[in-house]
Amino acid sequence: MHSKWRILSSGLFLFVLVSVLLLGLMQADAHNGFPYESASQRQIQRGRYLVTAVGNCVGCHSPNKTPDDPQWLAGYLPGTPGQPFQIGQFRIYASNITPDLETGIGSWTPQQIFNSLRHGQDKQGKTICPPMPWIYYRDQSDRDNWAIVAYLSKGIKPVRNQVPENTTVEGTRPNCAPLYQNLQPLPSYPADNEIEVRKNWW
Ligand code: HEC
Repeated sequence: MHSKWRILSSGLFLFVLVSVLLLGLMQADAHNGFPYESASQRQIQRGRYLVTAVGNCVGCHSPNKTPDDPQWLAGYLPGTPGQPFQIGQFRIYASNITPDLETGIGSWTPQQIFNSLRHGQDKQGKTICPPMPWIYYRDQSDRDNWAIVAYLSKGIKPVRNQVPENTTVEGTRPNCAPLYQNLQPLPSYPADNEIEVRKNWW
């Protein structure tokens, strides 16, 4: 009798353990974010679409505009028309956003890359300077920003290209945080002067 109970209760214990583990896995999947599961081919594909066709990251980070270019997303290259960017007193160079460990963002964690899009912060927590339009990317969904992270870390080749440091006229490193002091969050839909959502729409 005693051992029967033991078998039964350990069976029950195992059942509960497996259920909890399975539930945990399902939860992780529901996040659909990069740190919770390894990047899927679908995420990478979506990221490529966002980088090339929607976010126009290419416009600044890749002087030569097609993904089969050997310097795809490698950032500023000398002689690129319109670059470096002159932002007031600041001279700003488009970063190398390939996964190269030393000259790109290969040493950034997925969360750090995500934060650059969501919070405009670099690996050290410094505010990313204009014209990097993170004030628009921050309103993209978690899912889309993770897809970009997946593409930038797993979907492209590392390219060695050391981009020069940003400078001010005094030769110091620019601090761009004050430029974003008055940044407001996107109001939830509908904002006051947007159309009224019709009650019977859905
Ligand atoms: C209008 C030009 C422009 C566009 C478009 C643009 N960027 Fe940038 N980006 C920059 C510049 C310039 C910097 C460097 C800013 C700095 O050094 O503070 C930068 C910095 C970054 C950084 C930080 C890298 C580092 O080493 O600090 C990441 C990551 C990044 N961009 C990703 C993207 C992605 C992804 C897209 C598209 C979704 C994109 N950028 C679109 C100009 C641009």
